[in-house]
Amino acid sequence: MIQTRITDMLGIRYPIIQAPMGWIARSALASAVSNAGGMGIIETSSGDLPAVREEIQKMRGLTDKPFGVNIAQAYVRDPDIVSFVVDQGVKFVTTSAGDPNRYCAALKEAGLTVFHVVPSLAAAIKAIEAGVDGLVVEGGEGGGFKSSREVSTMVLLPLV
Ligand SMILES: Cc1cc2nc3c(=O)[nH]c(=O)nc-3n(C[C@H](O)[C@H](O)[C@H](O)COP(=O)(O)O)c2cc1C
Repeated sequence: MIQTRITDMLGIRYPIIQAPMGWIARSALASAVSNAGGMGIIETSSGDLPAVREEIQKMRGLTDKPFGVNIAQAYVRDPDIVSFVVDQGVKFVTTSAGDPNRYCAALKEAGLTVFHVVPSLAAAIKAIEAGVDGLVVEGGEGGGFKSSREVSTMVLLPLV
């Protein structure tokens, strides 16, 4: 075990949070990560919410460890995505690719822990002001689709 504020907050053994990937980050990957002591994450960016619901149900049989869901805001098609996530009984959410103010309050009101993915210092400040519990700091080398300004993680992380 590596104890940090992150492991204490999320109830995991190692401060490792799996990156979400549309269609790919489903129960096989997420349960392996959770069972290994990290935080497995199920995607919703595929937009295939019936399949995502099934994957979350499968998680209950595959792991008794914490896992979360990602809401990639730029890809959200269902206006009820917050209710969808809350209804699945998930306790941890990462939001990404959009304004952290959009879902943070509703998710936190429902009792979830919310981390937002930030690609810049300005975005990090905005996310903190929105009330998130944590940040995922992601430089431009992570594909860059969350920001047009390609600051590397090595520079961005200490800055944040
Ligand atoms: C195929 C693929 C799908 C992805 N889908 C998502 C997504 O749904 N939501 C999101 O926030 N990031 C998504 N990402 C970005 C990853 O979560 C991650 O932030 C990025 O790959 C950087 O991490 P890495 O350096 O470990 O690859 C995706 C990346 C890949 C390669």
